[in-house]
Amino acid sequence: MGDAGSGVASQLQDQTLRLHGRMAAIRHKVAILSGKGGVGKSTLTSNLAAALAEGGARAAVLDADLHGPALAKMLGVRGAALRFGPDGVEPPEAPPGIKVLSMDQLLRRDEAPLRWKAPTSEGDFVWRASAEAAALREFLSDTHWGALDFLLIDLAPGTDKISTLASLLPKIGAAIVVTLPTEVSQLTVRKSITLATELWGASVVGVVENMAGYRCGRCGHEERLFQGPDSAAMAREMGVSFLGRIPFDPGLAEAADRGAPYVRQARETPCAAALRAVAAALRSFVERPA
Ligand SMILES: Nc1ncnc2c1ncn2[C@@H]1O[C@H](COP(=O)(O)OP(=O)(O)OP(=O)(O)O)[C@@H](O)[C@H]1O
Ligand SMILES: [Mg+2]
Repeated sequence: MGDAGSGVASQLQDQTLRLHGRMAAIRHKVAILSGKGGVGKSTLTSNLAAALAEGGARAAVLDADLHGPALAKMLGVRGAALRFGPDGVEPPEAPPGIKVLSMDQLLRRDEAPLRWKAPTSEGDFVWRASAEAAALREFLSDTHWGALDFLLIDLAPGTDKISTLASLLPKIGAAIVVTLPTEVSQLTVRKSITLATELWGASVVGVVENMAGYRCGRCGHEERLFQGPDSAAMAREMGVSFLGRIPFDPGLAEAADRGAPYVRQARETPCAAALRAVAAALRSFVERPA
């Protein structure tokens, strides 16, 4: 049997079949990644989901950041209980009908970090990596996602997370790479673009520049926040698409803290318009003719 009669191999096979079945009902699987931490991946994910759902798409988000989950908070469903139905885990829905699955919903206390118990200290690193991959596989395969237009998957920082997701989803509709217009950000982001291109193909990779500029709330004066390299030029040079820029706006962070996506709260602001434009660019990107 190859697994000493434990049944592990057949359980894994069942889970993989379930995963394929669930994913077949989802038109566009989209990864939001960077490699770099703190650049706005989760903020973008929550607002893209809200903009897409408002436009009539059936959307869900999977918070693949197991150690620093943020999406339940940003979408206002922290503390909402997971239900277990006949078709698997029923994720809570954030308005307007966005399904949200996050490790946050499984951890009982705010201060409790996620701990993996390694069988030996020598194997700790490998064990953690495989435990993380197994947790993500379960999230994808055991959740009742139903028929969806978009599943947005928000990755944790670290280029290794890209390979983990690609091992579970070898084909996706788009890999959105979030960057800041700084050399420090690009240093890591370029590696992520190379890796995402190798794993999924250059045609699905699209760059989004966050904190591109700043608009003064009092006088309306606009300026670039950083004088760093242009992200559209980087995308062009690396042979991938550019999907748009989002300005720095303190209101965006405040809305995330309140659990209310900015695109729904401050519709008339340039930042909300920029987020909606990225959602529209994503839509045309995944629906472009082959
Ligand atoms: N354009 C913006 N204007 C103002 N604040 C922003 C903007 N983008 C993100 N932020 C804020 O910056 C902080 C980091 O954003 P976020 O958590 O989305 O980054 P991340 O890339 O997901 O981080 P991590 O790598 O830890 O997962 C948050 O408090 C968020 O509200
Ligand atoms: Mg995040």
